[in-house]
Amino acid sequence: MLLTEAHRKLERKKAAATPHPSGDKRLVILDTFMKRQQFRGAALIEVLHKAQELFGFLDDGLLLYIAKSLKLPPSRVYGVATFYHFFSLKPQGEHNCVVCLGTACYVKGADKIMAALEKRTGIKSGETTPDNKLSLVTARCIGACGIAPAVVYDGTVSAKQTPDSALAAVEKLLAAPCNSKT
Ligand code: FES
Repeated sequence: MLLTEAHRKLERKKAAATPHPSGDKRLVILDTFMKRQQFRGAALIEVLHKAQELFGFLDDGLLLYIAKSLKLPPSRVYGVATFYHFFSLKPQGEHNCVVCLGTACYVKGADKIMAALEKRTGIKSGETTPDNKLSLVTARCIGACGIAPAVVYDGTVSAKQTPDSALAAVEKLLAAPCNSKT
């Protein structure tokens, strides 16, 4: 048991230390997850779940990346992602904020960040403000434990967040013009 946990820790460390060509640590975690599934096409649903957990939603680039990694036709990956209602292909709001609630972030106060954001926006995780300005999403670990607690604002990972810094960042997002990435 101990050995397994030690092995897992080592794997996590290795994943965190290996820079993904894109520079996005979340893709390193996704790669490790797919590797553990031996890149089997049959693991597509699990992989989509993991990707959504890491990114908050599944955009075109991510679906194509998964299709390529699992050697599946993109049409199959799109088909599955659009068939199940629990997968979302884009954040509904103009802006999105993903709060990591993984262990490392949680012990450093991510729950308080989430509570502050929920109070400020009046929405819960997975919801979008009525004016469609902001979607609030939670993730389990985005691969940035060394800078916990981490929050991703419109795709940019921010380190060592506090309720105050998160509220300030969200105010900035709400004041910003429409997110051009979506
Ligand atoms: S728990 Fe790993 S980045 Fe939050």
